[in-house]
Formats: sequence, C-alpha cells, structure tokens
Amino acid sequence: MIKIAPSILAADFSKLGEEVLEVERAGADWIHIDVMDGRFVPNITMGPIVVDAIRPLTKLPFDVHLMIEDPDRYIEDFAKAGADWITVHVEAAPHLHRTIQLIRSFGVKPGVVLNPHTPIESIQHILEDIDMVLFMTVNPGFGGQKFIHSVIPKVEQLAKIIKDKNLSIEIQIDGGINEETIVLCAKAGATVFVAGSAIFGEEDRSLALQSIKRAGEE
Ligand code: DX5
Ligand code: ZN
Repeated sequence: MIKIAPSILAADFSKLGEEVLEVERAGADWIHIDVMDGRFVPNITMGPIVVDAIRPLTKLPFDVHLMIEDPDRYIEDFAKAGADWITVHVEAAPHLHRTIQLIRSFGVKPGVVLNPHTPIESIQHILEDIDMVLFMTVNPGFGGQKFIHSVIPKVEQLAKIIKDKNLSIEIQIDGGINEETIVLCAKAGATVFVAGSAIFGEEDRSLALQSIKRAGEE
C-alpha cells in the first residue's frame, strides 16, 4: 500500500484549514508541510505557528519537510507544534547524526532529504538511524516544477540496499508527482508520494488524489 501526502504549499492559504479537511476527506494519508527559510532555498513559507494552527483539525500524520539552514534550531518548535515526521536536507545538516537524534528525542520520526544531484552515498552510514529517505525530484523551493527523471536510478539503488539489509525505511518522492510520474517512482520502489499542484490545482481534489493513488498502486 502506497501513501499520498498532499503538499499544502499548493493550497489556498486564505482557507488553509478547509483545504486540509478537504484532502483528508479525499483520502490523504499524510499532510506534507513545506518549510522554507529564504536561505537554503530562495522562497519563504511557513513556520511552527502554522503547524500548531492546523494540528487540532485532523489526526493525519504531519510530515514536516524542513528546507532550512541549521535545522537543529527549530526541531523542538516543530515537534511541539505537532509534527509526526521531520525531514532534514543532508545538504543543510553537517552534523546529521546529531540532528537525527534530536528529532527522535522529541518522539518524532526522522527522515533525510536528498536534492536531485546528491548521491545516496551521502546517507549510507546513517541508514540504520532513520525512518525515511526523501528524494527530491525537483530543485526544492517551489511547487509546480517539472519532474527530474535522472533521480529514478537513485531510488532503485536505495530500494535494493533497503531490501538487502532488511531495513524498515520509507522511500518518499517529492516534486512533479502526477498520474504518470508516480508510476515510475512506485516501480522503482518508492512508498510515499508528495503531490502539491496535481491535487490542490484540480477542481475535484478527491478525483485527483484517488487517480494518482490508483496509478501508483497498479
Ligand atoms: C518543493 C516542495 C514540494 C512541492 C511539491 O520544494 O518540497 O513539496 O510542494 O509541489 P508539486 O507537487 O507541485 O511539485
Ligand atoms: Zn516538500
């Protein structure tokens, strides 16, 4: 069973609560929350107060994707605001092991994110300590970009390592996911799929979400 995590970055922020409830009714498995600091990536989005504000609305797991420099400074705030998962970029966390331990110390599941060009060798020594690897299939910073196909071999490579070592790690894909690209990623071994514009950009979110999910399960 695959999981779909709609990214609220593509939602209408003037009615964010309703948007979260709508994708929950549509069958979302997780809610993906994109946090950008204007430094690690060229865009600024939302902080812990937004997570805190929508937390009472749903029981769905909150998957907080930190695209920020020095993530350790904010992990406690996001944990207390109600994050169930926190993912940090390997490119932004030089003391990755410490960062992962910090996330776990708050009872939150840790994951590591790789930019499209970052090799999986960068995380080979931390695989035993994490619960998820997130592969960016666009350059982080904005929704609605084109899927980068050259990431697929990395996904296959990691899926094989996870299988060989018998590890329990989710493989998440973020960027340009739609009915077509999800098929390629699911075949490569991915288990969780972020989708922003392909869900919130559609009039009928339920139809959009369900057809993406069905495509990924085939
Ligand atoms: C990009 C974000 C993504 C983004 C995905 O930096 O991490 O989560 O919202 O949006 P789509 O699905 O439109 O590519
Ligand atoms: Zn994201």
